[in-house]
Amino acid sequence: MKVAVSDRPWSQLRCDVLAIPVKSSGVLDGLEALDQALDGWLREAVQLERFEGKRDAVLHLFTHGRLPASRVVLVGTGQPDDPTDAVRRAAAAAARHAQAVRATRLGLWPGSFPATPEVAAAMVEGALLGSYRYTRHKTEKKPAVEAVEVVGVRGAGAAVRRARVLAEATWFARDLVNGPPNEVNPPFLAEVARQIGRQAGLQVRVFGPPQLRRMGAGAILAVGAGSRQPPQMIVVDYRPPRPRNTYVLAGKGVTFDAGGLDIKTHEGMETMKADMAGAAAVLACLRALPALEVPHRVVGIVGAVENLLGEAAFKPGDVVRALDGQTIEITNTDAEGRVVLADCLAYGRRYRPDAVVDLATLTGAAIVALGHFAAAILGNHQELVRSLVDAGRRAGERLWELPLYEEFVEAMRGEVADWKNSGGRYGGAQKGAAFLKAFVGPHPWAHLDIAGVAFLDKQEGQAPHLPKGATGFGVRTLLRWLAEV
Ligand code: BES
Ligand code: MN
Ligand code: ZN
Repeated sequence: MKVAVSDRPWSQLRCDVLAIPVKSSGVLDGLEALDQALDGWLREAVQLERFEGKRDAVLHLFTHGRLPASRVVLVGTGQPDDPTDAVRRAAAAAARHAQAVRATRLGLWPGSFPATPEVAAAMVEGALLGSYRYTRHKTEKKPAVEAVEVVGVRGAGAAVRRARVLAEATWFARDLVNGPPNEVNPPFLAEVARQIGRQAGLQVRVFGPPQLRRMGAGAILAVGAGSRQPPQMIVVDYRPPRPRNTYVLAGKGVTFDAGGLDIKTHEGMETMKADMAGAAAVLACLRALPALEVPHRVVGIVGAVENLLGEAAFKPGDVVRALDGQTIEITNTDAEGRVVLADCLAYGRRYRPDAVVDLATLTGAAIVALGHFAAAILGNHQELVRSLVDAGRRAGERLWELPLYEEFVEAMRGEVADWKNSGGRYGGAQKGAAFLKAFVGPHPWAHLDIAGVAFLDKQEGQAPHLPKGATGFGVRTLLRWLAEV
């Protein structure tokens, strides 16, 4: 993908679609010169089509040689609260429209929105997010947007470069999550990590079953026991010179969650290739850190495992010992993510991190609570939670805090072991988080339950910048957070 930004006027841009975000309060505001260049056809078309600038609505017209751009497209933003969010979404809608009409060169001009680097960056981010398609396994590939150029904005080079890194990291996560589970299995994720290590110059360590046994990581081993694919704990270490802080990012990497012996229903299993979305977000972030010159040490820890039903599968009633020595009674083999993360979080303690953030498609309860419109965030440190929610707001990714009362921790105490892995259905997202909390130790920690937002197979939750399937949720929030803390 070619990406460019300049302060050239729109009148000089040669492209297939010149897209402009417009507010419903004044669809033609600031477009007088453009209307004149089009001999009044812009105003005419707005009236004929009764175009009101509603959010995501598109007005399309041909320029018939009056401009170097062959089409002009107005994209409605409604009455936006947040202009950055609005232009990101409008640019995504423009990119989708461009692809629908088989246009490959997309021009973007802020129109009546402020011509700031932030707006230019948000438009690039949106255009890239909106033009994403997963085509790896399609024999026939439809034409996609190949070049995005923002015009009419000065001094936005650095902001646009950063936006591009963020969007491409999101693509990377989406590709991993959309990938079929017969390809994207634990050894595959380990290989992806090694490749990231080579390309981005990061240290990568992978622990397979023999090392996990030696380390005493009995939790991830238990979950992986029912599959012929060996579980892998993957550690990716980004160490800039003289790092300011140390952060640990942990990701649930269940490459397929059949539920184990407590098997899921057909419907429950349909999207379970996406149960490694937390891991994908962590790997995508680590890969992008060098380009963003993040000044902190960041250690990504991924627990990659398949939750199947083989003859050696872990069973309800089993007691397993995690890396830190704490014991876990398995009361439900379908509550496997927290068991895997127990070992990952315990491993993370050795870095004495300034903060730990984990991402996991952990509970159906998080979807019941927030639908597909926000991830749940819970933690043991108010300031950390607040800073992540804030980064999410800047990224256009909603995080909504749920309470982690002591009662939820009590509900997870085991009968015969220290902890049990499932504590009943009510407050399920909080109980899952309460279990994780026990393995974090004394460090500031936040948990993002992304079960509802990582993968959208139905219409609900989809948006121009959030196509069907994997969303890459969390990547842009984490990268903004890491670049700005
Ligand atoms: N991977 C699922 C959670 C999930 C459900 C993610 C739907 C995305 C969409 C997780 O491993 C799981 O099965 N959780 C159980 C926990 C319960 C058994 C305590 C759940 O939420 O039902
Ligand atoms: Mn499960
Ligand atoms: Zn799961």
